Amino acid sequence: MAGNTEVMDTTGDSVPQRMALAQLPTPVEFADRLTAAWGGPQIWIKRDDLTGFGLSGNKVRKLEYHVAAAKAAGCDTFVTCGAVQSNHCRATAFVAARAGLNSVLLLRSSRGNPPDEAVGNHFLQRLAGAEVRFIDRDGWKRRQELMESIADELAADGRSAWIMPAGASDRLGVASFEAALWELDAQADAAGIRSDRPVTVWHASSSGGTTAGLAMGAASSGRDWTIVGSSVGETRAELHEQVDSLLAEAGASGAPYEIVDEYVGLGYGQTTDEELAIQVEATRLTGQVWDPTYTGKALYALRQVIDAGRFTADDHIVFWHTGGGFAAFAHDYSGVL
Ligand SMILES: Cc1ncc(COP(=O)(O)O)c(C=O)c1O
Repeated sequence: MAGNTEVMDTTGDSVPQRMALAQLPTPVEFADRLTAAWGGPQIWIKRDDLTGFGLSGNKVRKLEYHVAAAKAAGCDTFVTCGAVQSNHCRATAFVAARAGLNSVLLLRSSRGNPPDEAVGNHFLQRLAGAEVRFIDRDGWKRRQELMESIADELAADGRSAWIMPAGASDRLGVASFEAALWELDAQADAAGIRSDRPVTVWHASSSGGTTAGLAMGAASSGRDWTIVGSSVGETRAELHEQVDSLLAEAGASGAPYEIVDEYVGLGYGQTTDEELAIQVEATRLTGQVWDPTYTGKALYALRQVIDAGRFTADDHIVFWHTGGGFAAFAHDYSGVL
């Protein structure tokens, strides 16, 4: 794998290159009916589910930087990994198709087997032409080594791999979310978001890049944002370790953020009917699709802390809709619908 390329900005600092693919800026909308029904703080939604159709969600922001770096380094194939329903892997397959690259996806399933049916994100990964390979949980622990051996395989065939970690959470992914926070910053006044007291930015957190980037952006913002990553499976300690190491790599150690992990329930990708009922309610109060694994879990957590009295009616919150709606098409809602 070739190294990342960078250009210098006018101050002489190096900044990563970016290929514009997402529809930016994404809208910030006041969720009037959700705010009224949940009876707590005033809630805005940052619509990263609208970054594009196949490209939708938070991952395309990260991939804009990765695809620019991969192309500049002369690479022709993305190699990355995630769960079978990974949004990052789906977005990678679509970015590859858009940019004229290939993609090889290492997908984790319980027994290292393909799913019975290609639905949701997995259907889209295939539709966009990705080569998919399956690994079990033990393989997942060796994912870096396995991706490197795929890169060797490709090299023997005259091809050149650009390896990305799960969730594209690395220095480039973090840089993209630092810029995303600045995007919100620029929209806040017009959206009616108050600047005279801290405003919470609540979002689903998994591989930590989104949280680290938002924390970095907030640290250099003129406004007072409180960045809260709502875990979708990891423990607070695990996520702190990941986010702290990403911040250190970006030279931003100490940028403040908070992790909430009390509401992960059954764990990554598993839901209870109580969670699903809140997600369905939120769809009916916003007209937006929330996925059970990420945004739905983070919304459920937000609802719990509102009920526990964390916020007053004067508080403002931005819920970052990080996308992921396609996973709803691969989930069982029969207990609530
Ligand atoms: C829809 C969605 N929201 C949030 C996240 C979490 O982002 P991160 O992996 O940067 O923590 C992901 C990725 O895993 C995702 O697919």
